[in-house]
Amino acid sequence: MTAPDERHPVITPRRVRFDWSATPLHWIPGEPVATHFINVLHLLLPAGERWFVRVYKQALPLVADDPVLHGEVKGFMGQEAVHAYSHQGVLDRQMRDQGLDPRPLTAKIEWVFRRLLGDRPPLPVVPRRAWLNLRIGIIAGIEHYTAVLGQWILDARALDDAGADPVMLDLLRWHGAEEVEHRSVAFDVYQHVSGAYWRRFVAFFAGVIAMPLAVYFGAAYLCAKDPTLAGVRPRPRDYRRAVRKGLLPSNRFMVAAARRYLRRDFHPSGECSTRRAAEYLAVSPAARAVARAEPGRSGDE
Ligand SMILES: [Fe+2]
Ligand SMILES: [Fe+2]
Repeated sequence: MTAPDERHPVITPRRVRFDWSATPLHWIPGEPVATHFINVLHLLLPAGERWFVRVYKQALPLVADDPVLHGEVKGFMGQEAVHAYSHQGVLDRQMRDQGLDPRPLTAKIEWVFRRLLGDRPPLPVVPRRAWLNLRIGIIAGIEHYTAVLGQWILDARALDDAGADPVMLDLLRWHGAEEVEHRSVAFDVYQHVSGAYWRRFVAFFAGVIAMPLAVYFGAAYLCAKDPTLAGVRPRPRDYRRAVRKGLLPSNRFMVAAARRYLRRDFHPSGECSTRRAAEYLAVSPAARAVARAEPGRSGDE
């Protein structure tokens, strides 16, 4: 494998498929609460990543004067569309086939991304372009976390040691690896269309402050609707216990990532490892199946 370009790696969608027929509801054996903490990703990502694609359709003309970035944005949109579709498969099959119906909550999440964060500014006094720039800034902040969490899950050996389901781990690690691959795109788009540090700061908090609440309430919802769990509620000590086991990232990890992002000289290419992402994509069962079926399209072979 040649050395990957950390700053401008090739960004190509891989049209992966996953078979959920053998994945148990609690895909980390004996760890239903830790499973549902990570399952919150499946609740948020389909609606959230479809929203990224809608916002970036508007951003594309704004980066047309930079052909490299323009091409990377198209690759980014393609990857995010496949991510959304793939996590939707977990909701529609892996969860619902086993009696956990997430639709009442995912309908509300869809409303947040389609309406609250839609094209119409929340206040009539906000110009459309400023609203677009703010949403591009929010996406840049979220994409910092998808990249560092992608790197985290690539390296999370404790999930293998705990016997986590290999199909679910492949979904999360294939996705994580592609997040690492395209980690610079959202930041570069933001710098290109706006670049104001104050807006990056405000947008980061607007997007990220909701994250701990979403994770807690999402996990509580999944525990409440799980037909095999009678009245189990996720508690802070459940989270801390899973962190100690290495099954979840710590609060310290999340806060340290925020502090790095808010440095004025931050750039995502200084985070994570494209080499590590490429190493995983070379062995990922889902990515390898695409590489065999579509040689030359995956970017890996
Ligand atoms: Fe993604
Ligand atoms: Fe992403």
